[in-house]
Amino acid sequence: MIVSRANGQSISWQEDYNDRINPPLMTRLLHEAIPVLRTVDWRVVEITEGGCVSELPLCYASTNQHGTHQAALISLSADYTGGIALATLLRGVPFAGVHPCNDEASASLWLAAMDVRYRNPSTEHLFARCHVPADMFSMIRNRYFAGKRVLVTLPVTFTTPNNEIVAEAKMKYFVQPSVQLRPTKQNPAITPIYKHKLKASARMIAGLRASASSNLVRLDNAHERHAAGPHGELLARRLRGILPQLQDVVVARTRHIDDILKNIPGLRQVVLLGVGLDMRPFRVSHELNMPMFFELDLPEMLEERSRVIALIRNRPVVRRRMVATDFKRDHVGELLLRHPDFDPRIPTAVIYEGCTMYFSEEENLEVLEAISHVLEHPDSRLWCDMVKRSVVNGTTNIEEIAKFIAGMDQLGESFIFGCDSPAEFLARCGYSTTRVTTAQDFLGSADPSFSTYQLVVAKV
Ligand SMILES: C[S@@+](CC[C@H](N)C(=O)[O-])C[C@H]1O[C@@H](n2cnc3c(N)ncnc32)[C@H](O)[C@@H]1O
Repeated sequence: MIVSRANGQSISWQEDYNDRINPPLMTRLLHEAIPVLRTVDWRVVEITEGGCVSELPLCYASTNQHGTHQAALISLSADYTGGIALATLLRGVPFAGVHPCNDEASASLWLAAMDVRYRNPSTEHLFARCHVPADMFSMIRNRYFAGKRVLVTLPVTFTTPNNEIVAEAKMKYFVQPSVQLRPTKQNPAITPIYKHKLKASARMIAGLRASASSNLVRLDNAHERHAAGPHGELLARRLRGILPQLQDVVVARTRHIDDILKNIPGLRQVVLLGVGLDMRPFRVSHELNMPMFFELDLPEMLEERSRVIALIRNRPVVRRRMVATDFKRDHVGELLLRHPDFDPRIPTAVIYEGCTMYFSEEENLEVLEAISHVLEHPDSRLWCDMVKRSVVNGTTNIEEIAKFIAGMDQLGESFIFGCDSPAEFLARCGYSTTRVTTAQDFLGSADPSFSTYQLVVAKV
């Protein structure tokens, strides 16, 4: 992992070039992140401080019916050529989605607009060149390292090997420290990119449920597939490619939760914390004798959830209430107690699925402690899942898990919390009894990677 340093300039350009931003490395990383670049054999041929040259070969995959480059591929090449030129200026800074890194240290770079003029048909290998004007260097660095958003328009020129102009582009980018995209207590505004990330993780989980083919769980995949959409199915495929066990983990937890719900006598309420695009209410309501579901998540996620649910045709009638909340700011217990339809005295299940790993210890403690106050009935239960600490601090010695964690970092969904003794942790939150089952035991598998994932049930 590349670790960014305070202002980047303590690293020499040569050191930065060797470790972070040289042509073979950037070609490989971008081929991994953006498969179409590999398909067309696009590559970076030269990188200087503030500059980048790339090559888009004239080949079968990159051309159209006239045997010339597809115009949109020229634009794609402009996007990454200009992006690399800009990235060279921020020494030591890893770029989210490209370098192995997490949100704490990385920069997020996005294309905001482009203007491409196609001057001549492109009938030879095509070289793209971008050089950031020297008088912009210090403005870009100063703003970025002061924690501000940088917005710049960079020129990218496309030429044949004989230097004939084929196209000229103006590419407008913004770049900023990734941490700033997250809402904070001081600045709770949700940016469109943060919103995108929120949807991405919920869709990815729905995508994993959608492709569940195990006999462990009977899923009505149609709802899950609908929730995942093509984005979720694609992300699930990518992450399954990295950690094949992920599919079974999601299947295991789905069945484990279903079993818990079925075994609470007279269950009347189910609270889904961080509900995302979980379609459980539509799948199990009937079997559970129509409990009331309380679905808690950020308002932006609930908006997406409503949109997705509204599009389900012939959806079963269920009893559900959506409650907008931000776990980092609200007291979820009080929020539920204030809800006119919530009653803490009746049998209730609270499900905190696929969430603990994304919140800090302190945040999890607050949420789980707040929930302990709404589980007054002796049959009420809390369900949550926790990974072991070794997953988060990278000491499992299991290569697939390390790659998965790097993949989640790249998605901007870093795991930050792991726990080796859920019973102790939950005792601190006010729970008297906790039962912990590893996915390995639950699945009866010999695969040690499943031992790092724990299914936890507690009562107050
Ligand atoms: C990985 S998803 C899990 C979704 C769902 N439980 C499932 O298993 O399909 C994590 C969920 O936590 C929600 N979330 C993230 N930050 C949150 C916050 N500060 N307050 C409330 N919910 C949040 C996200 O919107 C997302 O729906």
